[in-house]
Amino acid sequence: MVRIINLESKKKASFYAAVEVIKQIDLKKDSVLGLATGGTMLDLYEQLNDLLKLNNMDLSKVKTFNLDEYIHLSVNHDQSYKTYMYHNFLKFNDTFNEKNFFIPNGNAEDLNSEVRRYEGLIENNGPINLQILGIGENGHIGFNEPGTSFSSRTHIIELENSTIKANSRYFNDIEEVPSQAITMGISTILKAEKIILLAFGENKRSALNKLMTGEIDESLPASILNQHSNVEVLVDNEALGIAKI
Ligand code: PGA
Repeated sequence: MVRIINLESKKKASFYAAVEVIKQIDLKKDSVLGLATGGTMLDLYEQLNDLLKLNNMDLSKVKTFNLDEYIHLSVNHDQSYKTYMYHNFLKFNDTFNEKNFFIPNGNAEDLNSEVRRYEGLIENNGPINLQILGIGENGHIGFNEPGTSFSSRTHIIELENSTIKANSRYFNDIEEVPSQAITMGISTILKAEKIILLAFGENKRSALNKLMTGEIDESLPASILNQHSNVEVLVDNEALGIAKI
């Protein structure tokens, strides 16, 4: 079963996660990190960037693999996950070697060979020592939507309407939200040695409640994490449904 850790607020939980990343890099200078995007991760990157600077950490040997990227959204679009990573992580960390930054190319001419290339890169550089995950309102991890096979590797996914709607808050118009993405597969994610999932806010409560039952079912992609031996789920009061005092 996953360990649920209630840190009461998004800020405290993000700090905890940032410290876990620092500890991982301290332990192994050439750590391989699995990184995530989305609104949930903004505080984490902010606090991580501060801690990395404060501790003069050398990131030159660290490698990072992002979970996913939209298909057919220009890399320069402000909502591409490559742009997100630049604005929230890369531009703050001078010692990080951008050659060690990996993200699927959603504009590759041959998307089928791109998914194989990305899976191969993870295989050759892995295992991922620490994977950071968010969770969708529908229980997705990465962009693995409900019904995705637990044995999936990096693949192309059709986004659910609920995901498109949830992500439309970052775009000018819902019509602009891509309908497809490349995502690490569920079996790819599960190979990580340690996983930290962050779930904040009331809109994640339903998915979190289902995850906490311990029942494992492909209709809730995150439920497979109950089978992994090293997962921490960091939550705030709102996600757990604990009223603020
Ligand atoms: P969010 O997305 O952080 O923007 O809520 C999380 C996810 O879909 O995994």
